[in-house]
Amino acid sequence: ESIKILKTLNYIPPDIMCAQDYELLAPDFIAPDRFAYIAGGSGHDATLRHNRTSFSDLSVVPRVLRNVEQGSTTTDLLGQQLQHPILLAPVAYQTLVHPDGEIATAYAARSTDSCMVASTLSSKTLEDIAEHAGPERWFQLYFQPDFNDTKKLLNRSVATGYRAIVVTLDAAVQQPSRRALSANFSFPDDVQAANLMAQGPSTADPINPRHIFKRYMQNVPTREQLAWLIEQSPVPVLIKGVLHQDDALELKALGAAGVIVSNHGGRTLDGVPASLAMLPSIRAAVGDDFPLLLDSGIRSGGDIFKAIALGADAVLIGRLQVYALSVAGALGVAHMLKLLREELELTMAVAGCSSLDDIKTADMNRVLLTP
Ligand code: FNR
Repeated sequence: ESIKILKTLNYIPPDIMCAQDYELLAPDFIAPDRFAYIAGGSGHDATLRHNRTSFSDLSVVPRVLRNVEQGSTTTDLLGQQLQHPILLAPVAYQTLVHPDGEIATAYAARSTDSCMVASTLSSKTLEDIAEHAGPERWFQLYFQPDFNDTKKLLNRSVATGYRAIVVTLDAAVQQPSRRALSANFSFPDDVQAANLMAQGPSTADPINPRHIFKRYMQNVPTREQLAWLIEQSPVPVLIKGVLHQDDALELKALGAAGVIVSNHGGRTLDGVPASLAMLPSIRAAVGDDFPLLLDSGIRSGGDIFKAIALGADAVLIGRLQVYALSVAGALGVAHMLKLLREELELTMAVAGCSSLDDIKTADMNRVLLTP
């Protein structure tokens, strides 16, 4: 297997001025086929494009004469106090772009008081990640073909201090990405699903990500299995991958602690709506107090402001995390998070909001669709 990590830095390149700049720089650090796999959406990238335009079509209308000297981005989520509402989304196989993979990401989360959501499909074990992450860590759980394996993952993550479980429901099957296919992307043998090695058909049989969907991801949980998991779990269970208000309502009734409005960064089915477009109707359905998070398309602090204004309590960052990791490892991810937080603070200050609640309760004049 050829070395596919082109290079990585141990300093912040001087041409990074904002969080999104990591996206511009990433192609210098990630081999083209891997970049196509990471950057691409499903099919022809239509949803991927919606994810961006849903944000850029909205403008923030600033308000003057508001005292924001005590401004702060802190928030309570599931009874946990977060310094800011910016979480690292679960992203599989991070050693594709950096030799330290999820360990570097964990360091970055810890050093910036950020909550990291570790993926079932991480290339480092959840135990390893837990050792390096800060106290704010959640585990993203994919149901396994054998329900006992699902329970084992739950037990392992609870035993190692993950504070919430995120069950992703939207990716049991994914429409292939034209971009990744035409770039001839395939998973290299040295990037593996470290968490699943011990529970494959044989412990000696390494799990190749190429076979994940056939061998591991075929099972979508039944309502009963999900209800069981929610009941058994000693930590809150959130559901990721919801775009319809009725699904959110059903999951709330089932006992979910929160819902992540997401289209998986445009990677599931091309043609589904932008998650931001579905957020207001979902917020209206579940009420003000039910935790709602959003991801898909966020590239700046301004985008985070818009998501909160339309009903999100917090957001998750997918691709920017991978890009920053590829450029400068833990330092890059920490820097990207710092930039996003500063961009959010700047937007809040100019918009006259001194708290996330201020953004949420803003009169509808604060965020307007551009003509
Ligand atoms: C993902 N995402 C994802 N989600 C999940 O629940 N489990 C996973 O293992 C992965 N893996 C993964 C790999 C890669 C390369 C990408 C780009 C994304 C989806 C991720 O959590 C998130 O929903 C999106 O990435 C958000 O969109 P943005 O921020 O990338 O636009």
